[in-house]
Amino acid sequence: MTRMIRRYGDGTRLNHWFVALLFLCAGLSGLALFHPSLFGLSGLFGGGTWNRILHPFFGLLMVVGFVVLFAQVWRDNRWQRRDTDWLRSSPSLLRGNEGVMPPAGKYNAGQKGVFWLFTVTLATLLLTGFVFWQPWFAEWFSLTARRIAVLLHALAAFVLILGVILHVYAALWVKGSIRAMTRGLVSERWARRHHPGWQQRTGGE
Ligand code: HEM
Repeated sequence: MTRMIRRYGDGTRLNHWFVALLFLCAGLSGLALFHPSLFGLSGLFGGGTWNRILHPFFGLLMVVGFVVLFAQVWRDNRWQRRDTDWLRSSPSLLRGNEGVMPPAGKYNAGQKGVFWLFTVTLATLLLTGFVFWQPWFAEWFSLTARRIAVLLHALAAFVLILGVILHVYAALWVKGSIRAMTRGLVSERWARRHHPGWQQRTGGE
């Protein structure tokens, strides 16, 4: 029987799912505000008024959770020379030729890229959101600043949603990854196959 290795502690997993849940709430309530054709989504949050009141708080809570997640995983997401090699070889991986890939550490270059994309887009959403958050902060800013902020906010949300779709697709595609975030455990075989640098370095967490 293959040995199981710990990849995430209880606190990290709990926080990750908190961020994922808040992402869904902030995302769906945000889409309801984005276009009239999506306004029906506001029904999930008690109608238009509650949707409008709650959306910024969902976003704020998501960012608070992500700041904690950031503190938990950023060290393993630092870019290294082998990540550039991994990225260069990634077309082969997409063609199904996994054997030619340089060994990844705890995270591969794709995961690291998505992690930093999350960081930049969430920081943009947070900063721009304050600029047009009525009735609290919007009046501190000029109309032009508010208009630019609205545009950047929507753009950052669009990129974040694409990033999360990619993140979930990769989590489902690499069999055995979901268990890392539900039970905290991966098989030794999974670790050796997908993250040999991490498996050799630590034998686990
Ligand atoms: C339903 C949605 C989601 C699913 C199914 C999911 C799944 C997973 C899984 C399986 C892992 C472990 C990957 C590994 O250890 O190799 C992971 C890690 C992670 N997830 Fe998610 N996730 C979701 C949503 C999110 C959201 C919304 C965010 C943040 C905006 C997020 C941020 C992260 C981060 C930062 C990690 C650590 C890996 C890294 O730093 O590259 N996840 N997720």
